[in-house]
Amino acid sequence: MKIQIINGPNLNMLGLREKEIYGSISFDDYFEELKNKFTEIELFYYQSNIEGELINKIQEVGFDYDGIVLNAAAYTHTSVGIADAVRGISSPVIEVHISNTKSREDFRKKSFISPHAKGIIQGFGLYSYDLAILSLTDV
Ligand code: DQA
Repeated sequence: MKIQIINGPNLNMLGLREKEIYGSISFDDYFEELKNKFTEIELFYYQSNIEGELINKIQEVGFDYDGIVLNAAAYTHTSVGIADAVRGISSPVIEVHISNTKSREDFRKKSFISPHAKGIIQGFGLYSYDLAILSLTDV
């Protein structure tokens, strides 16, 4: 089973940025933990701060992978292009957020991606990614 994790803008700063919201571990370190936890799954990780690169990656993996765990970060709230990419592929997409975006500023309450996602997991810190992977493997 192959699962692609895709992280959007500023998530390369995890561990350094707004630690009270996003925690103090870098995603690279967390990804090592995930690979050690889910040894039976082929896990891949991609991060970009650039909208078009995220769209390219969604298109590249979106027809052969068993699932995509997508944290589009700020683009969640703005990007019709990423939403169209998600609706145009066949792999299931789980939308993930580290924080509970519904409990934050109003502009974070809108997600262009949610209507096209298989499911949404948010607010559990980095554990949201574990839950997303589990949701793809338990089907
Ligand atoms: C985020 C929430 C977004 O609103 C924010 O822009 C992010 C991270 C999260 O994982 O909680 O960068 O997607």
